[in-house]
Amino acid sequence: MTKPHHEMTEQELLTQRQYCEQIQAIYQQRQRGTRPLACTKTFGCQQNEADTELIRGMLSQMGFGFTDDPAQSDLTILNTCAIREHAEMRVFGNLGELSHIKRDNPDFLIILCGCMAQQQSVVDKVKKSYPYVDLVFGTHALSRFPELLYDKLSRGRRVFDISGDEQGTIIEGITPIRKEGVRAWLSIMYGCNNFCSYCIVPYVRGRERSRRFEAIQQDFRSLLAQGYRDITLLGQNVNSYDGGSDGPDFPELLDALAQEPGDFRIRFMTSHPKDCSKKLLDVMARCDKVCKSIHLPVQSGSDRVLREMNRRYTAEHYLSLVDYARSVMPDITFTSDIIVGFPGETENDFEKTIELIERVRFHSLFTFIYSRRGGTRAASMPDPVPREEKQRWFDRLLDVQNRISREENQKLVGRTMRVLIDGQSDDKNYPLTARTDGFQLVLLKGTADHIGKWADVTIERCSTWALFASL
Ligand code: 5AD
Ligand code: SF4
Repeated sequence: MTKPHHEMTEQELLTQRQYCEQIQAIYQQRQRGTRPLACTKTFGCQQNEADTELIRGMLSQMGFGFTDDPAQSDLTILNTCAIREHAEMRVFGNLGELSHIKRDNPDFLIILCGCMAQQQSVVDKVKKSYPYVDLVFGTHALSRFPELLYDKLSRGRRVFDISGDEQGTIIEGITPIRKEGVRAWLSIMYGCNNFCSYCIVPYVRGRERSRRFEAIQQDFRSLLAQGYRDITLLGQNVNSYDGGSDGPDFPELLDALAQEPGDFRIRFMTSHPKDCSKKLLDVMARCDKVCKSIHLPVQSGSDRVLREMNRRYTAEHYLSLVDYARSVMPDITFTSDIIVGFPGETENDFEKTIELIERVRFHSLFTFIYSRRGGTRAASMPDPVPREEKQRWFDRLLDVQNRISREENQKLVGRTMRVLIDGQSDDKNYPLTARTDGFQLVLLKGTADHIGKWADVTIERCSTWALFASL
């Protein structure tokens, strides 16, 4: 096994708890017993959503209640994403808005954390141009958030901390505060060792590290006991899960969790195609409680581009995985991520991507125009194709995928499918939302007392994005 990962020790946990108590005392004194309120805003991926749930767990230990309105809060924390430039611009825009609240209430705290905050360039920019930001800490410092906030409150000056080992600390022993409902995230591993040439994630999230199986199992059982019914195992690359010399690999982990008693289903994301094994697909096929759907980011259909991206598989290998998965799970749905306009990509490369998506017929796609990320390998590659051309490719890709999504949905009209009713929609005629095993969105006629229940529904009609049915 690789070097054992550092899990937060009892002592470290206790130290942070003590900081939580001290923060609670500060606010009690300051606000004469009224409960302080925190507002959390999350940008980016599910991993960040899960981190925010941990942050809310810590804030709750400090005595905070929660509000969605920054103006009502004593403290607003932005958990940020660095994956594309656009994500970073949104965060800077949000910071500008928060500065108005600070003008009216000097005690209001603005905190920046997450992937963007892990970068020195961002710290420098905030130091210089965003003087009203009180605390900035990176992903490696997450477990020390209480300590850093205490530091800010007790000493008054701004605090910046992006230190920490890129091997990373695994946070255990903090109860996340999750959104109510039937779906929950469960982190099983953190970090990424793949260094795809366009991607900032390995730099801001550090090396791969896996949680202990027993800790995952315990959380899983507790989620079921709390009534969650659709649980997504999370990691940058779940197929690299490493339970240690006596522990499970990812397919074994999935298999073990699927054996738990109860009426639930399991999903997982994200899988890297280079590590997606037949063993995994066989476990998916065999276990009723594992959803027959997989998010398998392909990024490009051109082998040349895949090589430049350092993806370490070919389009042919990808297609062979899809074919094998369909041979053991005929109804499996695929979703994927595509990057358009990677440096040096030609129209011919782009056509190969179109060919691949026509061949696979994904249920849906997450599509992105390449965004240059400082410090990555691709950032220094020549990138001659103009933005307008990339936009044309991108629009074409969307058109093709929208047609495929619509056609695939059309095939389901008339079918009876088992769904989990998970919430309310904005559509007056179809006020409920539900999800199929394949994560297809179903809008339902019915009443709110059905939320949290399973139902067999017959699909009446469809759009590009959704299926429609009645209870
Ligand atoms: N530019 C555009 N898209 C990117 N992604 C990751 N890095 C970049 C980038 N620099 C996309 C990939 C990945 C998804 C989470 O984000 O498609 O799978
Ligand atoms: Fe980024 Fe590649 Fe790691 Fe995914 S596998 S997080 S795209 S480096």
